[in-house]
Amino acid sequence: MVVLQAERLSKTYGRGAVTYQALEDFDLTVEEGEFVGVMGPSGSGKTTLLNLLATIDKPTAGTIRVGGVDPSRMSASELALFRRRKLGFIFQDFNLLDTLSMKENIILPLALDKTKPKEIERRVVELAETLGIAHTLDKRTYEVSGGQLQRAAIARAFIHEPDIVLADELTGNLDSKAAGDVMEALRDMNERRRATVLMVTHDPFAASFCKRILFIKDGRRFAELRGGGVGVAGRQAFFQEILDMLSVLGGRAHDVSRSRHP
Ligand SMILES: Nc1ncnc2c1ncn2[C@@H]1O[C@H](COP(=O)(O)OP(=O)(O)O)[C@@H](O)[C@H]1O
Ligand SMILES: [Mg+2]
Repeated sequence: MVVLQAERLSKTYGRGAVTYQALEDFDLTVEEGEFVGVMGPSGSGKTTLLNLLATIDKPTAGTIRVGGVDPSRMSASELALFRRRKLGFIFQDFNLLDTLSMKENIILPLALDKTKPKEIERRVVELAETLGIAHTLDKRTYEVSGGQLQRAAIARAFIHEPDIVLADELTGNLDSKAAGDVMEALRDMNERRRATVLMVTHDPFAASFCKRILFIKDGRRFAELRGGGVGVAGRQAFFQEILDMLSVLGGRAHDVSRSRHP
């Protein structure tokens, strides 16, 4: 089943004489249960694409459908509800509230819905176990590590069972060990629970956990890679393919994390 479909997406910033086309005729289809990465040099249009898919910004041309629905036809309040129900988000800087416990942060997206307490409890426990943070649920955010914070953010992104979770540089604020823990947790969400994920990243190590990677250059689709390998060896081979593609792509596509290896 197709979860997300974007057709001929274009985005032009500015108006009048000074305009910049950040995205041009970009097509993208994501099937249920896919784990897709988006990579490209700085300024290539990755965040622009993610903002359009997240319905935070509107395309200049082209269409987006999530679960068969076109968000561009919605009113502001319908759109807010759509975003809250159908989409999940993971950010670089975690966006957790430090006045709440880990568990309270995770269940926040359900606060406005009428989900029964028992059902909430069941979901939190299941997610926390898949993500390896069950023992941190009653802690405050300042009592846990960055990797645990980001795994709580992953749990929060999935707690309301969205159609797709969108992530922007989710390992950007983490050291190598924590980045590995977070990516393994996200991969487990995808493999064990068929969660659908689309993530933008600079980091070839993080990207090596994806099953498919789209490369963007100058706002256009440049190439696509599929990772088919099994286990650590499979991921190492995919990591090498990603590095090779980034060097073809040029630009400052992967200078953030040369030191990270699978
Ligand atoms: N609000 C904006 N107004 C004008 N230009 C923008 C705006 N946002 C991004 N751009 C430009 O669009 C291009 C793509 O930006 P972005 O999507 O942020 O790239 P990336 O995330 O791949 O680094 C860049 O050249 C950037 O300067
Ligand atoms: Mg960006």
